[in-house]
Amino acid sequence: MQVGLLGHGVVGSGVRRIIDDMNAKKNACLCIKRILVKDENEMVEDRMTRNIDDIILDQDIQLVVECMGGKEPAHTFVERALESGKHVVTSNKKMLASYGDELFELARKNGVKLLYEASVGGGIPWMAELRRIRRIDDIECFEGIFNGTTNYILSRMDAEGCEFDEMLVQAQSLGYAERDPSDDIDGYDVAYKTALSCLAAFDCYVDPQEIPVWGIRNITKKDMEYANEHGFSIKLLGKGEKKDGILQCSVMPCFVPRGGTFASVPLNYNAISSVSETLGKAVFTGQGAGSLPTAHAVVQDMLDIATGADIAEHSITACSVDESTEVTCYIRNCSIPVQYVSEKVDADTVITVPLSYAKLKELTDNTRGVMVIEVKK
Ligand code: HSE
Repeated sequence: MQVGLLGHGVVGSGVRRIIDDMNAKKNACLCIKRILVKDENEMVEDRMTRNIDDIILDQDIQLVVECMGGKEPAHTFVERALESGKHVVTSNKKMLASYGDELFELARKNGVKLLYEASVGGGIPWMAELRRIRRIDDIECFEGIFNGTTNYILSRMDAEGCEFDEMLVQAQSLGYAERDPSDDIDGYDVAYKTALSCLAAFDCYVDPQEIPVWGIRNITKKDMEYANEHGFSIKLLGKGEKKDGILQCSVMPCFVPRGGTFASVPLNYNAISSVSETLGKAVFTGQGAGSLPTAHAVVQDMLDIATGADIAEHSITACSVDESTEVTCYIRNCSIPVQYVSEKVDADTVITVPLSYAKLKELTDNTRGVMVIEVKK
């Protein structure tokens, strides 16, 4: 199958390398015919182009692989590819979480596939496993570490007492972070991945902007010390649960017990658990960011399309997020009215009484420097 690859950055160049290596070993059913690049100085091979029409209008190209990142022009290019009857594989969670309902419908109408394994959990076969579990069970809930950049920062701050800013620069230089790392450290990248996991786990399309989100931008050594003294690590977790038709999801840093599922997940690794009736709790782990692990997941989707592997279709319903779930939190650097405080840790830190996500947002949004961490019950 002939492929048009959109983007030749961290993930796109990894996809090109894996496919070319497979072809060199003469065991590939895929061939990258054209590669869309952004700048003139990236045009280092004949198959590279800066004109999307060279891919969309090429009848020999049956599969378009989008690794550009960002909402536009990725969204328009994917839309055009689907409209012209080409299958699409994407690693772009921001674009897909924002336009998923429209794009899955377009794929269905045109009788083509739209696969997105690499957009959630990097190299971990999380979407594939959800599809397999759902052949037997309904998914009750999932939770996990979905972001390699923040896990890299948190695990090195925890193990070595490093500073936040220094570790962010390292995660960027290792190719883990988004072009604008705000999406990573403010939790939005996890919100996109949580929204896409709700799609695959529950067939629910949720607008990522509706998900209550807190990030790790303001974490300090002081928070790490508090966690250590109490037998915890701090991890940024995305969660989803559907019960009696009500969807709950959130993104929040959490104190997780040392020795538990998530505390020892290192560096750029992700770990995601699901709970379902006959399988019970299952945990999936692997590298959640980086060129080749993410490209591996992209190529797995490409092979599924090229070999006609059977993949369940989505029938999606738009869902709203219930914000009434209550959580107990550690909050630093925010003035919390006394009726919501259960314990004063020190002059600028409190533990709250259980608060709904809605109330917590009202109390902490727009407070510069605030750090919110869920205290697990
Ligand atoms: N910036 C993302 C992360 C890349 O750090 O997890 C993979 O989605």
